[in-house]
Amino acid sequence: MMNLIDDLRRLVGDRATDSSSERLCYSRDASQVRGLPDYVVRPLNAIEVSEIVRLAGRLGVPVTPRGAGTGLAGGAVPIKGGILLDLSGMDRMLELDLDDLQVQIEPGVIPERLNWALKEHGFFFPPDPGSSAMCTIGGMIANNASGMRCVKYGTTRDHVLDLEVVMADGRVIHTGSRMLKSSAGYDLTRLMVGSEGTLGIITAARLRITPLPRARRLIAASFPTAEAGARAVIEAFSAGIVPSACEILDRTTLMVLSKCNPNLALPMDGDLILFEVDGSEQSTAEEAEQIERACSAAISVRIATGKEEMEEIWAARRLVGAAVSRLDPNLSRVYLGEDVGVPISQIPTLIARVERIAEEAGIPAMKYGHIGDGNLHAALFIDITDEDRWGALERAADRIHLAALDLGGTVSAEHGIGLARARYMERQWGEGLDLMRSIKRAIDPQGILNPGKLGL
Ligand code: LAC
Ligand code: ZN
Repeated sequence: MMNLIDDLRRLVGDRATDSSSERLCYSRDASQVRGLPDYVVRPLNAIEVSEIVRLAGRLGVPVTPRGAGTGLAGGAVPIKGGILLDLSGMDRMLELDLDDLQVQIEPGVIPERLNWALKEHGFFFPPDPGSSAMCTIGGMIANNASGMRCVKYGTTRDHVLDLEVVMADGRVIHTGSRMLKSSAGYDLTRLMVGSEGTLGIITAARLRITPLPRARRLIAASFPTAEAGARAVIEAFSAGIVPSACEILDRTTLMVLSKCNPNLALPMDGDLILFEVDGSEQSTAEEAEQIERACSAAISVRIATGKEEMEEIWAARRLVGAAVSRLDPNLSRVYLGEDVGVPISQIPTLIARVERIAEEAGIPAMKYGHIGDGNLHAALFIDITDEDRWGALERAADRIHLAALDLGGTVSAEHGIGLARARYMERQWGEGLDLMRSIKRAIDPQGILNPGKLGL
């Protein structure tokens, strides 16, 4: 290992480093997971990635890929040391192929940048996580991220046609093609999506793009309780509406947002559900009316049609992640138990259980998230200098995870497993986890790719 840095420098020059300050910068994400890499390398193409992986394989050194480091479960934290591959510099948009409804881009592209480029052609890439202005497409694919629009348009997984992947032995393979459909063999693309860098390193992605809708409408409905809001969502769905977004911001979240920006255009009189519908002028008008009817238990309902008004509301929704620190200057948000998902019918029960768990633990909780697809972000807050509160928080997060599983759900709907949730994999998957372990062993027999993650 002594001269690994020299070998890495021979491959990529000064884009390889073992400086302690740089290594420290790559030792964490937004979770509590920590791990210091021995080397940080910034490759610029698949050949370099392949050479680095081959070198690592010869020496049995771990390789952990990372995008923008916005992860919330330690997925890109190198907990076994070794080489940290920073792929954020591979950010070229390689091909825009409107005729075939697709783009090919490198993994470091930021999704908002892709959407700016697509907009002028009348298209978009629908998956829209809260971090879309800073995360990377590679990280989105590795975690099957989704965010606001998957209730109608699906998650990242549903938009990936092909991936170029560097395998653990350095081979560069393609998992799909330009085809919008194919019945030829195993679905390697889906195997790679959500694999969090444990099966291969994504060096390019071919993504399906979608025409921008002609019209959108946003319905903001305030409810006396979050549970009542959740019941209205179920009612709207049963009436046959498929909203293009369906979010919840509970009253604590709204209070925090208003502390951050007192001029926000959000109704503040209850727990808020935001429904967005898209399509034509006529269809969105009809659907907005139907949603209004489904919200008969609401305190107030406001329908926004103006572009600026809608953008302002979505901008407020995006602010949540940053605004959480305003809840109480003595408390910090800890990302644990923050990404559970349940079938939509179970959302009212989940909300009630999360409220009870937080109350019993004496922990303030903010509830927000993608209620339309059953994904609730429970933000839990403690005084992080108080040892006892850590114990209470971990127990509360554990109960939230178990509640989601009990209701037929998942411990992570979009943020990923990483290390933070690895201990639930056995419980969520049973025998299925053994199959995942076999796949991992077959593809990466030395276990060099992002070791220690996913409970493998
Ligand atoms: C969001 C992130 C936390 O929805 O997933 O804002
Ligand atoms: Zn989210």
